[in-house]
Amino acid sequence: MRTVAVAAAEDLLGELRRWFESSPVYTLVWSGGDLRAAVNRAAEGVDVLVVDEAVLRDHLGWLEHVRALTCPVLVVGPSDPAAFRHALTAGAKDFLARTEWPDLLAGALERLVRKPDSQSHPLVAVFSPKGGVGKTTLAANLACAVAERAHGPVALVDCDLQFGDLATLLGLDPPATVYDAVRLTRLSEEALERLLAPVPGTGVRLLAAPAQPLQAEEIRAEAMLAVLEALRASHAAVVVDTALGYTDVNVAVLDFADQLLLVATPDVVTIRATARALELFREGFGYPDDKIRLVLNREGSGIGRDEVEAALGRPVAFGLPSDGAWPVRAANEGRPLWVYRATSAFVRGLDPIAATIVPDRTPPRRSWFRRRHAVRPPGPAATFRG
Ligand SMILES: Nc1ncnc2c1ncn2[C@@H]1O[C@H](COP(=O)(O)OP(=O)(O)OP(=O)(O)O)[C@@H](O)[C@H]1O
Ligand SMILES: [Mg+2]
Repeated sequence: MRTVAVAAAEDLLGELRRWFESSPVYTLVWSGGDLRAAVNRAAEGVDVLVVDEAVLRDHLGWLEHVRALTCPVLVVGPSDPAAFRHALTAGAKDFLARTEWPDLLAGALERLVRKPDSQSHPLVAVFSPKGGVGKTTLAANLACAVAERAHGPVALVDCDLQFGDLATLLGLDPPATVYDAVRLTRLSEEALERLLAPVPGTGVRLLAAPAQPLQAEEIRAEAMLAVLEALRASHAAVVVDTALGYTDVNVAVLDFADQLLLVATPDVVTIRATARALELFREGFGYPDDKIRLVLNREGSGIGRDEVEAALGRPVAFGLPSDGAWPVRAANEGRPLWVYRATSAFVRGLDPIAATIVPDRTPPRRSWFRRRHAVRPPGPAATFRG
């Protein structure tokens, strides 16, 4: 558990207390309205101090003491310049608007408290502001390529909570879903392991999207992040397929990811939407440029790479060619394209992406890794033969 101290005025204090009380990740070790007491408690050691800007305003003489703290400070306040100034003077690492903090707190805290740990396994989110551009196809097959490079299991998580189709795409009948995972009272490796569906012939294990679209509404961003963090600890990498739009779960996952693969196809509508997404990531979310990697899917089928780069003001990091009917055939067979047609142009294009996620090929250690192209056990699908 991570420890938090909260200094806030009455109304916000109650809301923050309730938020932290239901958190499986953070323990509130101190809370109250007295900034001096909060600073003293934080100085004894907490992972983060959350401060209401109203409290900063009432204790302006204490801003420098807040600034001197070694733990990160997060300020919640009204979106006005004076409030920003107080937060800056207090050395805050992040500022959340009063109207938005419940949606953004989980992601913001994770960013602040996550220790820079070179051993930490990578977490990659695949996102696009446009539907149907190939996010799911990329996430599923990239996970296979990463697992092969890492020679360790890779978790593939379907965070398209309402419409996720990874289980169908991979021909799996998962034992459980994200809905069950966020309900676990203890996120142990063994408990999570039981919820994952291994993808035959690969080192990938799927945590599927909820079976019922309405279950998605009950999944809180923070619980989702706790599951991702637990999966990260027990897997060589985590690849997350995301939903459309900026829901709080989606934004928390994007915040939390080390690497964000922004998928676009070479058509005007998608490139425009991608330009707006890039602007939001830079201006609104404050993501560093190197967090985002642009993936041009179906490259060669529309606008050229140069034009795409000029329109978006950044290089295409990876291009993936159109692969004709192969992705659809593999999906109809319920197998990853990576297994179904290892020589396909799309699959070959995944290696450079996998190499940025797992830079060094790890020598095989464990026997879990089944031979690629292993005979697929009986299962659903197999309705289409190419
Ligand atoms: N490079 C490619 N070549 C050929 N077909 C592709 C390629 N990439 C994706 N497809 C096909 O395009 C369709 C949409 O792909 P996919 O489901 O991966 O997109 P998505 O972005 O996840 O969509 P959604 O927004 O609905 O989740 C699928 O039928 C898939 O097989
Ligand atoms: Mg999809």
